[in-house]
Amino acid sequence: MKQAITFPRCEGVYTRQAHCDIPAGLYEREQGREGFFGAATHSLHPHKPTGWVSWEGPLRPHLLDLNTLPPSEACPWHSARIMHNAHLQLRFWKTSGAMDHLVRNADGDDLLFFHRGEGDFYCDYGHLSFREGDYLLIPRGTAWRIEARQPLEALMIEATADLFQLPDRGIAGRHAQFDLAVLDTPRLDAEFKAQQGEFETRVRIKRANQITTVTFPYNPLDTVGWHGDCLPVKLNWRDIRELLSDRYHLPPTAHATFLCKTVVVCTFAPRPIETDPGALKVPFFHNNDDYDETIFYHAGQFFSRDNIRPGMLTLHPAGFAHGPHPKAFKMGQSAERKYTDEVAVMIDTRYPVTVDELPAGVENPDYVNSWRE
Ligand SMILES: [Fe+2]
Repeated sequence: MKQAITFPRCEGVYTRQAHCDIPAGLYEREQGREGFFGAATHSLHPHKPTGWVSWEGPLRPHLLDLNTLPPSEACPWHSARIMHNAHLQLRFWKTSGAMDHLVRNADGDDLLFFHRGEGDFYCDYGHLSFREGDYLLIPRGTAWRIEARQPLEALMIEATADLFQLPDRGIAGRHAQFDLAVLDTPRLDAEFKAQQGEFETRVRIKRANQITTVTFPYNPLDTVGWHGDCLPVKLNWRDIRELLSDRYHLPPTAHATFLCKTVVVCTFAPRPIETDPGALKVPFFHNNDDYDETIFYHAGQFFSRDNIRPGMLTLHPAGFAHGPHPKAFKMGQSAERKYTDEVAVMIDTRYPVTVDELPAGVENPDYVNSWRE
């Protein structure tokens, strides 16, 4: 049996409402548990929590420019793996043309986010077309392949702890953020029927990260009908209607889109910026001590960051306080911007991730110094 320690106590100078009415000359830092859902303390400091002058040792924030990665093979299992832990593998897949085989992931669910390009997705349950800005959630065990109409760049989020589901919308109601009716599912349409036939087809099955190739004398994507609810689903960020609070900067988890036991995927989509004079206009300084935080930048100007371009990815591991970069913080204080047009995908992981070995030039080794004034 266990019981949470839930008393709020106050000491010295503090605000009655987190993230609001921070006294001039002070900076607020949130030290929080359970990925913004748990106990938290907000402390006020005369210095920014990101004011370090030296940083030595293995814990460090990472900035990766995925634009510099070379093209991958047409097989997603051979795309560049960026980071991993026991429950997650994150890949960046740059491909073009049509896959000449099917794949099936027996390790976990694959959540693809298409950063560039468009094409067609064929699977056990039919056909779906997709374009940049789409998420495509593929349940474990689905056989599929892709035909790219334009060169593709996709973030592949593979989660093996359990299946991806949607967050509980709580008091916002079940139609908030997006209506379930906007989720597209595969159809047994003319395109699906046109790709069927009696030709040799290989299926590359991934299990325990090893690949087994099974060959059929026909295309096994030969479904004539189905009923059920274990299906790939497609969601474009343009169909996400952000939860808003004009008077309070909502935590990142208010933007949760998909989650499983150990991975939370959030989407930062365009929205108005808070206008209340006392409300923070940029994310608060924080250490999110139970999670490693990864953000992939898709489009727009990233309102809490300096010098970040689309196609880049940052990893802020648990264990250090971070927050807006200096220029972004200043813009937030002056309330210069009324609207953010950024589109980004955040992947929070309950267990620490390891960055994989990447080609020279992908990682910016100076990122840890990017908060310097
Ligand atoms: Fe963070």
